[in-house]
Amino acid sequence: MTKKWSANSWRSLPAVQLPAYPDTNALEEVENRLSGFPPLVFAGEARKLKRQLAQVAAGDAFLLQGGDCAESFAEHSADNIRDFFRVFLQMAVVLTYAASSPVVKVGRIAGQFAKPRSSDFEEQGGKSLPSYRGDIINAIEFEDADRLPDPQRMLMAYRQSAATLNLIRAFAQGGYANLAHVNEWTLGFLKDSPAGHRYQELAGRIDETLAFMRACGIDPETAPQLRATDFFTSHEALLLGYEQSMARLDSTSGDWYATSGHMVWIGDRTRQPDHAHVEFCRGIKNPIGVKCGPSLDPDELLQLLEILDPENEPGRITLIARYGAGKVAEHLPKLIRKVKSAGRNPVWSCDPMHGNTIKAATGFKTRPFDLVLREVSDFFDVHQAEGTHAGGIHIEMTGQNVTECTGGAKAISDADLQDRYHTHCDPRLNADQSLELAFLVAERLKSEREARGLPTRVVAVGE
Ligand code: PEP
Ligand code: CO
Repeated sequence: MTKKWSANSWRSLPAVQLPAYPDTNALEEVENRLSGFPPLVFAGEARKLKRQLAQVAAGDAFLLQGGDCAESFAEHSADNIRDFFRVFLQMAVVLTYAASSPVVKVGRIAGQFAKPRSSDFEEQGGKSLPSYRGDIINAIEFEDADRLPDPQRMLMAYRQSAATLNLIRAFAQGGYANLAHVNEWTLGFLKDSPAGHRYQELAGRIDETLAFMRACGIDPETAPQLRATDFFTSHEALLLGYEQSMARLDSTSGDWYATSGHMVWIGDRTRQPDHAHVEFCRGIKNPIGVKCGPSLDPDELLQLLEILDPENEPGRITLIARYGAGKVAEHLPKLIRKVKSAGRNPVWSCDPMHGNTIKAATGFKTRPFDLVLREVSDFFDVHQAEGTHAGGIHIEMTGQNVTECTGGAKAISDADLQDRYHTHCDPRLNADQSLELAFLVAERLKSEREARGLPTRVVAVGE
């Protein structure tokens, strides 16, 4: 018999990675206030995303999920959001056009604030302080007071998420995402990069196609699919007090939903089947992601799926494999076979970031871009061999011209990392690297679709 779920049933279970707030009265007061605030997203939108993810699981679409490792209060600006959104749209267009595949667009944005940490403490110059856990919990500055968990930060994160979401909804629905603007999404610094050139060429072809369609009587004014796009938000459901406060009972369905974002995921460090994070997530009806790292064995995964998705609902679960380049073939096939033999069909997605983090000689945390590309290739190879659909990628990226991951067409070196290293947590792909990755994925996806006899364009991009 499964125990009854309630929005706070997680509280009686063991939990890792949750902060210890010094002032529990202040915490309770903030949580109560949050629970009276308007939802950030609606249950119907989460259901729409689930239907789209069901199409991914069926092999008919591809999931593009990406954004900051951690959003920050300091970098909250319209320019940042716009630059992220346009690189993301560029990636989506490359995948849609070059692989002829519908793309489900999910940002790590408007709520991606809380971070799990491998160590509870950070040492600097002989001093030890609690680790930074994301702006929703404490501050990144290395001072005693800054590292204390402060519940007021949840209110700031809520308000920032609302403002970000507001702008993104306007971009997605209000004309910015109109395919007729495909040429205008290119950022200045991309104009002289190889991926930028490839993109310009592709944008030219889309323009031609749109001109042809316009001549046939189909244009963005008459076809809403051409002038607007669905864009969904996601984040790690880590800070359970916040998540509980943002959970709402949906009057239409009578079900509970997280309204902090459309999709949430469970991190690799918090996926213990009998712990608090899994307990909270089992009771909300949103699409749920589960990070799958090297320590997850197939039986444990099945157990998790039975808890999180007892009805085997299409689109409910996205499994996000994050092993590191060269390690996918060792781990992923076992999971795929087990899941298949249990009659389950989740979305399989690839996070090529979190298994490829290294410390550069200069001390910066970085990710070599060629390892990121290799992990994505490994992922497609495994799915090809298993006869399953390589359903998506999950990446940490920004629209800014940062120097956080080494390599790429601009050959960022260890020594270059210090130039524009702005991340609040893990190193992100910059705009150029993100676009280059999209072209690689498009090629692999196109081959997969051809092998399955699905329609693809006759001429590949760049040919
Ligand atoms: C993340 O996605 O930011 C993260 C911490 O990933 P993981 O749980 O896979 O380590
Ligand atoms: Co990260």
